[in-house]
Amino acid sequence: TGLNTLDYGFVNTGATKSAITYIDGDQGILRYRGYPIDQVASGCTYLEVAWLLIYGELPTDEELAGFDARIRRHTLLHEDLRRLFDALPHSAHPMSVLSSAVSALSTYYEDDMDVDDPEKVELQTVRLLAKLPVIAAYAHKKAIGQAFLYPDNKLSFVDNFLRLNFGTMAEPYEPNPVLSKALERLLILHEDHEQNASTSTVRLVGSTKANMFASISAGINALYGPLHGGANEAVLEMLQQIKDSGEPVSRFVERVKNKERGVKLMGFGHRVYKNYDPRAKLVKESAHEVLQSLGVQDDLLDIAMELEQIALEDEYFVSRKLYPNVDFYTGIIYRAMGFPPRMFTVLFAIGRLPGWIAQWRELNNDPLNKIGRPQQLYVGHPERDLPAR
Ligand code: CMC
Repeated sequence: TGLNTLDYGFVNTGATKSAITYIDGDQGILRYRGYPIDQVASGCTYLEVAWLLIYGELPTDEELAGFDARIRRHTLLHEDLRRLFDALPHSAHPMSVLSSAVSALSTYYEDDMDVDDPEKVELQTVRLLAKLPVIAAYAHKKAIGQAFLYPDNKLSFVDNFLRLNFGTMAEPYEPNPVLSKALERLLILHEDHEQNASTSTVRLVGSTKANMFASISAGINALYGPLHGGANEAVLEMLQQIKDSGEPVSRFVERVKNKERGVKLMGFGHRVYKNYDPRAKLVKESAHEVLQSLGVQDDLLDIAMELEQIALEDEYFVSRKLYPNVDFYTGIIYRAMGFPPRMFTVLFAIGRLPGWIAQWRELNNDPLNKIGRPQQLYVGHPERDLPAR
């Protein structure tokens, strides 16, 4: 084919224009539709930001109220879909449960799947935003062996989600404003991040004209890996191992630098940020706030801060421009809220959902959209004949 350059990991390959998110990795800048991430994260709600990413502008009060009401109306899962969870083992990783259930949504809405009908695209959008948190909470309840609750649509988006996770049949759930605010902020910080691995997956699947449920289920699977969204769970495992082993933090860092097999500083480094990840700064602030207001003292936060300090002053990390990324401190907050580590990447998925939807829709509306189809350089056998039989 005349192909003579390869780009492993698509480090230098652009495949789309986009008007959604701007990143300047050298300066540590992130903006949603032009708005700086710190302003968005402190002044907006999750659904407002979802609207901003999907439709391009902040919603008016009326638009937001209508969007919120439509999403509330769609929170229930089909009863048969609730029973899908019975078929999966308690030990299943909640990310696998999440992608399976999202994929299964395609089976319930076959009449609303036309990707060229704007009304059906709206329905797919609203159904996903409404149902993903419910599916996520059921994945959690399944893992801990508790009964599923039905959503309570009087509650806000975030409180409804927290109640579905932490309420029980026996006890009414009391929303805690500190946790609700912190979770909302974390979700907003994850809402979009331009052409990362999961978003590129959503776009590649979407480029075939597959529906939004199928495309986003694929994105969830891409997010699952420890080099991507799975890093938040891996960070907590790493901190816990350091604590349990009693190994000094500086020794652990030496092992990372010696590239001991399987030892990496999880939650550090980024393909695009060659400066402090602006999201990590905000997450670190939240970690202190949440722990303080809950009156929790967490040794893992101390270990994380010591790791960060050693790494930021060490030549290995400095020369490679490795800084904490968004996943470094999130697990500590999620843990303080009561989520088990296996739920951390699921929370990332709920956060990222509006970005996946916005990117899928941008692609679907782009007249230049073509089926994605990378090339290869063939390095196998030249033509040969089957042995005579
Ligand atoms: N610990 C130790 N060394 C590292 C790390 C790390 N976390 N990250 C990168 N390096 C080294 C790497 O070994 C390489 O060194 P050398 O030049 O000697 O071979 C150099 O830094 C460049 O790294 P790379 O692997 O070529 O960079 P990449 O852009 O391909 O990978 C990354 C980016 C995020 C996958 C990687 O930094 C990593 O594995 N980090 C740990 C996992 C993690 O925290 N992922 C979350 C990313 S942020 C949000 C998200 O997507 O979820």
